[in-house]
Amino acid sequence: MSHGAKKHDTVDGLTSGEAFAAAERNAVYRAIATRRDVRGEFLPDPICEEALSRMLTAAHQAPSVGLSQPWDFILIRDKETRARIARIFADANAEAAIRFPADRQAQYRSLKLQGILSAPLNICVTSDPKRGGPVVLGATHMTDTDLFSTVCAIQNLWLAARAEGIGVGWVSILHEDRVKAVLDIPDRLRLVGYLCVGHVSGFHERPELEKRGWRERDDLALHLHQERWTAPKPASE
Ligand SMILES: Cc1cc2nc3c(=O)[nH]c(=O)nc-3n(C[C@H](O)[C@H](O)[C@H](O)COP(=O)(O)O)c2cc1C
Repeated sequence: MSHGAKKHDTVDGLTSGEAFAAAERNAVYRAIATRRDVRGEFLPDPICEEALSRMLTAAHQAPSVGLSQPWDFILIRDKETRARIARIFADANAEAAIRFPADRQAQYRSLKLQGILSAPLNICVTSDPKRGGPVVLGATHMTDTDLFSTVCAIQNLWLAARAEGIGVGWVSILHEDRVKAVLDIPDRLRLVGYLCVGHVSGFHERPELEKRGWRERDDLALHLHQERWTAPKPASE
């Protein structure tokens, strides 16, 4: 930016590199910190269409490898379709429970892990690895990058939803092939996220899995490394 340019002028298509004003910055961090995975607090109220459109636009503004935009969003409102997905979840969830150690299975079964029928809208998010053509800039060596891009889109949607006062719950305890069959999703596409979306009675203050004693959020320090990856210190140190 030239020295004479005003704060919000654009020069050569560049906007200012200055930080957001404090209130705007705080709003971004507030959406991040208060976003929750919602399962049991959905209200049946129809979703505000303008808010939904803003959320989907936010998702579509996500970064994507080679600008390939590999995502598609299938909006599912039909109750019978959602009931079919709920049955797929029930089967997968029963299989999931027995994979945990015996002393955790009862607790696992007590957790509510989806709101497929109670949320008025479900969004199935898929990823097309061929969307960018046979060779995609940036995906030549790390071949999962279309999936990473689609996850970025989901996170944008999740944060935008929080700012709109709309809850999102991600359901991954599903048989991908069965969901794809129900929703006519072509073979080459991957199912990345199955989201339950709706207005809520409230957001949990902290992750529900923490509140229900399943697992705690770690200190950031445990996940930080300097210069190279280092093994975690044993608990006794
Ligand atoms: C890829 C992914 C898959 C998830 N799948 C499920 C799921 O099947 N059921 C569920 O209840 N929560 C699911 N979650 C939500 C996580 O459990 C949740 O994000 C985590 O416990 C932290 O809570 P918070 O999102 O409220 O901060 C999933 C989250 C991600 C990112």
